[in-house]
Amino acid sequence: MVSGYSKAILEIGFGNGENTSYLAEKNPEALIVASEVYRSGIGSLLASIAKHSFQNIKIFDDDIRELLLGLAQPIFHEIYIICPDPWPKARHHKRRLVDSNFLNALHQVMHPNGTIYISTDWENYAEFIDEESQKLNAKFSTAKISNEGMPITRFQHRAIREGRNIKTFLLTSLKK
Ligand SMILES: C[S@@+](CC[C@H](N)C(=O)[O-])C[C@H]1O[C@@H](n2cnc3c(N)ncnc32)[C@H](O)[C@@H]1O
Repeated sequence: MVSGYSKAILEIGFGNGENTSYLAEKNPEALIVASEVYRSGIGSLLASIAKHSFQNIKIFDDDIRELLLGLAQPIFHEIYIICPDPWPKARHHKRRLVDSNFLNALHQVMHPNGTIYISTDWENYAEFIDEESQKLNAKFSTAKISNEGMPITRFQHRAIREGRNIKTFLLTSLKK
């Protein structure tokens, strides 16, 4: 448990921070760790923090893998990854952030029964996430869920405009 907070939530690649602000408002007792490298997006989230006087968001402005490497214990109860960069061309698939190695690294920093919410608007990334999470079926149970009730992010708006469907997964961390 992170001292002073009811739970810790991580958002990876928050973009302009629409979902981060939603999480901060919905969970005022929780610590929200928000990771992004895109400067203009960080500026948007800072503006939202100032506007709403959020006290519970901490921004990590570097590659999330650097943060994960430095954590030696379970910290997070919930993790959100919305529209990870798709790398749609087959020859670029190895650049995709969400693969079994990355999910395994997330598992190390999660409490048992913690959840990873992953949404993608690319059909072949959804298939890839499904396959990669099945490789870890001793560590996670995986369900396909609806994203109803969640805010629509900038990249999701673009996907909807361009006629792509949003596919969402909820991975639940099994006991270690
Ligand atoms: C396609 S955008 C989606 C942004 C936002 N979640 C949305 O739905 O609008 C993916 C974001 O992930 C960020 N990103 C990619 N790799 C990252 C990493 N290793 N650590 C932190 N952020 C990363 C990128 O900078 C980019 O803003």
